[in-house]
Amino acid sequence: MQKKVLITGGSGLLAANWALSICDKYEVILLLHHKKISLSGVNIDTASLNNLDECLSILDKHQPDVVIHTAGLTSVEKCELNPNLAQEVNVDLAKNIATACSSQDVKLVHISTDHLFSSNQELFSEQSTPSPINNYAKTKLKGEQKVLENCKNALVIRTNFFGWGAKYRQSFSDFILNNLKDGKSIDLFQDVFFTPILIDELVGKVHQLINTGFNGIFNVVSNERLSKYEFGVKLANCFNLDIDLINAISINDKENLVKRPKDMSLSNVKLCQALDCKVANLDEQFQSLKEQESSSVLNQVILDIIPYGKHYIDEDDICSVVDVLRCGMLTQGPKVAEFENKVANYVGAKYGVAVSNGTAALHLACMALELGKGDEVATSPNTFVATSNSILYIDAKPVFVDIDSSTLNIDINKLEQTILNSSNIKAIFPIHFAGLPCDMEKIKQLADKYNLAVVEDAAHALGAIYSDDSKVGNCQYSDMTCFSFHPVKGIAAGEGGMITTNDALLYRKLTLLRSHGITKGNFEFPGVSEADDSLINKNEALENGELKRWYYEMQYLGYNYRITDIQCALAVSQMDKVELFLERRKQIAKHYDQAFESYSNIKPLQTQGRNQSSHHIYVVSIDFAKIGMSRHQFMQKLAEQGIGSQVHYIPVVNQPYYQELGYEIEQFPTTNAYYQNTLSIPLYYGLSNAEQKLVVSSIKELLNK
Ligand SMILES: Cc1ncc(COP(=O)(O)O)c(C=O)c1O
Repeated sequence: MQKKVLITGGSGLLAANWALSICDKYEVILLLHHKKISLSGVNIDTASLNNLDECLSILDKHQPDVVIHTAGLTSVEKCELNPNLAQEVNVDLAKNIATACSSQDVKLVHISTDHLFSSNQELFSEQSTPSPINNYAKTKLKGEQKVLENCKNALVIRTNFFGWGAKYRQSFSDFILNNLKDGKSIDLFQDVFFTPILIDELVGKVHQLINTGFNGIFNVVSNERLSKYEFGVKLANCFNLDIDLINAISINDKENLVKRPKDMSLSNVKLCQALDCKVANLDEQFQSLKEQESSSVLNQVILDIIPYGKHYIDEDDICSVVDVLRCGMLTQGPKVAEFENKVANYVGAKYGVAVSNGTAALHLACMALELGKGDEVATSPNTFVATSNSILYIDAKPVFVDIDSSTLNIDINKLEQTILNSSNIKAIFPIHFAGLPCDMEKIKQLADKYNLAVVEDAAHALGAIYSDDSKVGNCQYSDMTCFSFHPVKGIAAGEGGMITTNDALLYRKLTLLRSHGITKGNFEFPGVSEADDSLINKNEALENGELKRWYYEMQYLGYNYRITDIQCALAVSQMDKVELFLERRKQIAKHYDQAFESYSNIKPLQTQGRNQSSHHIYVVSIDFAKIGMSRHQFMQKLAEQGIGSQVHYIPVVNQPYYQELGYEIEQFPTTNAYYQNTLSIPLYYGLSNAEQKLVVSSIKELLNK
């Protein structure tokens, strides 16, 4: 049977290369912490390994023969800045893994470092006395000791390796090659020495040690001791790159660097004697590096991006959909009404009309109000194009009102001014941007004062709370409220939308409009032989006073905006989790608020609304000019770390179609100022704590660059 090898620190340079190097010989499980990657031929699992129980359970789950423990906090700077984290990762985690491996009789290979010495010697042996000079070295040394104390037959490997890194993680050799290929000059230390080894060579030797049953400390390095500068020149020569671009500098010239050893070279005599072998020389290793390029980790590891928003599906959702597929009606069945009732009850409205998407909901709301040519509708430019498009669909004119800089919603003061300045405003379409409700009491006062209809665009705001503690969508301040159930929204239907209302006439009209404007003659009880009063062609409809069984009547020019029972089955099941979703979103938003509080050049927005918002998205303002990076570059760098981000929104008036209609962003200075610096970062129910930490640390790192 193939041996099973479990590798920790899965997204790191060493782990991913290790997996690739052995996956044709062994069954490999690459254990990830927060970054998600895919690598063909390798099984991927995620675990946080915070304590011994988690280490034990991951071994129980996978039953490996060997664990290669590569996970570690390897940044010398981070270890100095964050000693507790260095202790947790480099010492406590190593101890827990060792204890778990020992108790389950699993062979452990613990990867250590060449960083442990600082005396004026070279080619340190396994017997040399370590003298760690920084917190990285100190914690790695402690980690070694814990491993050997807790797992008698563990192998501890001291090494310094190079190889192709994935796109998000450059190795030392990548740094040299990438810069020289781009014609950029680099500085390399001529007075720091090491004995680096190609990862493949390292992996081969370690598996020989495992297979021969060795344990204890082994240096697995090359024979050649050379400076970092000499390494760079040798590598550049092998790849025919310009060595004149490499500047030899001294480590003494670098101020503010955490203290580092000048000689990290290790002796591989013990290794070569134990295995009765030689280690390939560096030229041969560079040659192999060159040959590996196309099939390397660089091209094989695919980094899964943490999106800015995402749905969450559980088994109940799947069963609910499958039930409909097995025995239900696929469309125009009972699930639609069940969903409508569930949402209407939840938000506290009398009626709900489910439709195919949020845009359809807005369009039908416009139609139900009988808005048309010559009518104007006041709305905000800080929205998705769907809001104002729905107004254009019915030939009315969107009149944009600038936003308030703190809520990012329509500016109520400017709204009144706009109403006064234009003669034909018939309705207000406020958007609860990012889930933060508008001040609906004030909007309603204005609507009453000027006799205007109100339609809330609550695409972001399922579960959000008005200032009187009631739920958005109860329509106490509006004629209708429109929701969207696109997967990034509060709940997912695949695609879906709903209009809630308390007005029976609007409800009837909307129901007809979503299905071609057709009625079957008995609105309350379709299919029942008694006709209601709304029929136009009564003579045609009735036979002996009874509704004809096949009769239907088109009263408006409606659309097919129906939603299916399949979608509603999913949405009904999702509604059972809506409070859970909302609570987690709020928690994440508050965590981000804290993490970025008083951090310069980044400002979380809408923070005043944490107890009201449904937290559809988390928006921050970043001073891109100040950090010397464009928003595109910033997003690109985040993506390289596996983090998605988005901009909500390009102001509608900036869209060419709207510009063509004569709208200009200059008239909306607050929206424009907000747009210049805004970024939405990941926020969704399934975002793990580890992923949040990664988002925060990656952003902070970019802000500090
Ligand atoms: C504010 C706003 N209104 C309306 C919509 C349209 O919803 P749907 O995508 O379901 O058509 C969206 C969708 O993103 C939105 O963000």
